Amino acid sequence: MAVVRSNVRIASDVYILEAEGHFAGEMGQFYMLRGWDDYPLLSRPISIHDKTEDGIRFLYRVAGYGTEKLSRLKAGDPVGLEGPFGNGFPQIEGRVALVGGGMGTAPLYYAAKRLASADAYLGFSAEAFGVEPFREAAQAVTVNVGGYIVDDFRPDGYAAVFTCGPLPMMRALAAKLDGSGIPLYVSLEKRMACGVGACLVCSCATKSGNRKVCADGPVFRAEEVELNDDFNIH
Ligand code: FES
Repeated sequence: MAVVRSNVRIASDVYILEAEGHFAGEMGQFYMLRGWDDYPLLSRPISIHDKTEDGIRFLYRVAGYGTEKLSRLKAGDPVGLEGPFGNGFPQIEGRVALVGGGMGTAPLYYAAKRLASADAYLGFSAEAFGVEPFREAAQAVTVNVGGYIVDDFRPDGYAAVFTCGPLPMMRALAAKLDGSGIPLYVSLEKRMACGVGACLVCSCATKSGNRKVCADGPVFRAEEVELNDDFNIH
């Protein structure tokens, strides 16, 4: 069990929970969070949003019983934290574009901090959130509210693109990068139970057979996976 340092609402139904302590984890990895003792028994997979010397932050949307329970935690409350899990994003030497939609922007902030050079493209359907910290961590920040962030994205000059967000956005991005030779890394989300590759709940079809999003992902090269509606992302 870790201890909650703060749990702040930053937009409608969107919160940032910070736990105290020194935690391991790289960009794109996730933790299983649990802020309750009763039903449901399963923890919730939530990606690392930020990490400092003495704390770790998770940006999450209240979307059901589990996250509603999380949102009620207060400073000093215990919170179950297991992790880090998953493979995370690769370290890239050159300039990287981070393209996120809605809650998919959550793992990209820590990536912006960890990469030597990154531009952020952040799309929101109605209400932007969590944008200001990107302005320090990234070289350039483009925000689109109510439109299509992929329309604002020009692929020129990037060594790689990392994305997380709604499937239509990631599909449009993959189409835009097609033939460019720029590698696209997608962070996928599926319902999870164990988080460590034991239960197969999060299986997905890839070109190299069935893989587990929790243990083999959540980050895949876009051309490896079918970006189909199996993924219930944000
Ligand atoms: Fe159990 Fe992925 S959540 S195998």
